[in-house]
Amino acid sequence: MENLRIPGPTPCPPEPLEAMSKQMINHRGEEFGKIINEVTANLKKLFQTKNDLFLLTGSGTGGLEAAVVNTLSPGDRVLSVSIGVFGDRFATIAQTYGAEIVHLRFDWGKAADPDKIREALRADNGIKAVLVTHNETSTGVTNDLGEISKAVKEFDKLLLVDAISSMGSINLPVDEWKCDVAVTGSQKGWMVPPGLAMVSVSDKAWQAHSTARMPRFYWDFGKARDYLEKGQTPWTPAISVVFALDVSLKMMLKEGLDAIVDRHIRLGDMARQGAKSMGLPLFADEKYASNTVTAVSGANGLDIIKLLKIMREKYQIVLGGGQLDLKGKIFRIGHLGWVNEKDIETVLSALEEALPQAGFRR
Ligand SMILES: Cc1ncc(COP(=O)(O)O)c(C=O)c1O
Repeated sequence: MENLRIPGPTPCPPEPLEAMSKQMINHRGEEFGKIINEVTANLKKLFQTKNDLFLLTGSGTGGLEAAVVNTLSPGDRVLSVSIGVFGDRFATIAQTYGAEIVHLRFDWGKAADPDKIREALRADNGIKAVLVTHNETSTGVTNDLGEISKAVKEFDKLLLVDAISSMGSINLPVDEWKCDVAVTGSQKGWMVPPGLAMVSVSDKAWQAHSTARMPRFYWDFGKARDYLEKGQTPWTPAISVVFALDVSLKMMLKEGLDAIVDRHIRLGDMARQGAKSMGLPLFADEKYASNTVTAVSGANGLDIIKLLKIMREKYQIVLGGGQLDLKGKIFRIGHLGWVNEKDIETVLSALEEALPQAGFRR
């Protein structure tokens, strides 16, 4: 079996996988109602929120689209804070639905500077919402969302957060940091397969929802809320993934959020120190390096495409490559969800052997 060390989908423990093999049930019946209510309540604990929270069947990108179409109108000005591929994608979604994008881009590998966000908001008081990625999976950088939130809330703007690869793994207190919509995806730290986006919706986001005019149907939070009151979703949900999530959330709560966050801190640290000790440069500014994914740069003759092939074929370890402009320039080690120190040790020792085979000289 391959050792999947990409930043999602992540390997799943046997318990949620077993839950997925259960027979289908009526998604409009009592049994499903009980499960969705429990799953929603447990997710709220891990989102650290009292806001509404919905399960949407789709991938994380669907959740981002939902955040946009439920709160904005065509012509609204939106500040896109982007530090990589996924920040750009969030902006593209908003632009596709007619938002006017004010771009605030930071060099890839760096985190967003909250003061630059303040400046941008001060310079343009017509901006309605700020789009931000908490953890930029393409570069292995975690933004300081607490500080970014302070800047955004000084100007009382809507804060829409892509927390797809951070929520449930890296600390993100949704209520304390006043995230109006926070989005994650089941295939990341949640230890279940792809198929669900999970989104929290604040009172301020609901106010925006009442006047937002972007077209929405499948993603309409209003429909999600009405159906959840009956223990249902508006459309047929990915029932098997909900079964799995029900089990994985219980495992997560048993471990405890603080312990999960600490484990990810240790794993992130281990991956970074391991790479550095082999003479590999880290791509991300170390102060903001992610605890769910480590991006490593090529150096000293290293052929990254070859390295990924050797790791896969010889060691059965699948690492992530670089995306778009970063293809061939970085590789990424995913360490989120069902992962422990031993898993990272395995990756690092294989890497040490594979590096010289891929042209790397110390
Ligand atoms: C930060 C971030 N945003 C968005 C996405 C897109 O999510 P999905 O592939 O589930 O649509 C990902 C997935 O890798 C991600 O890591």
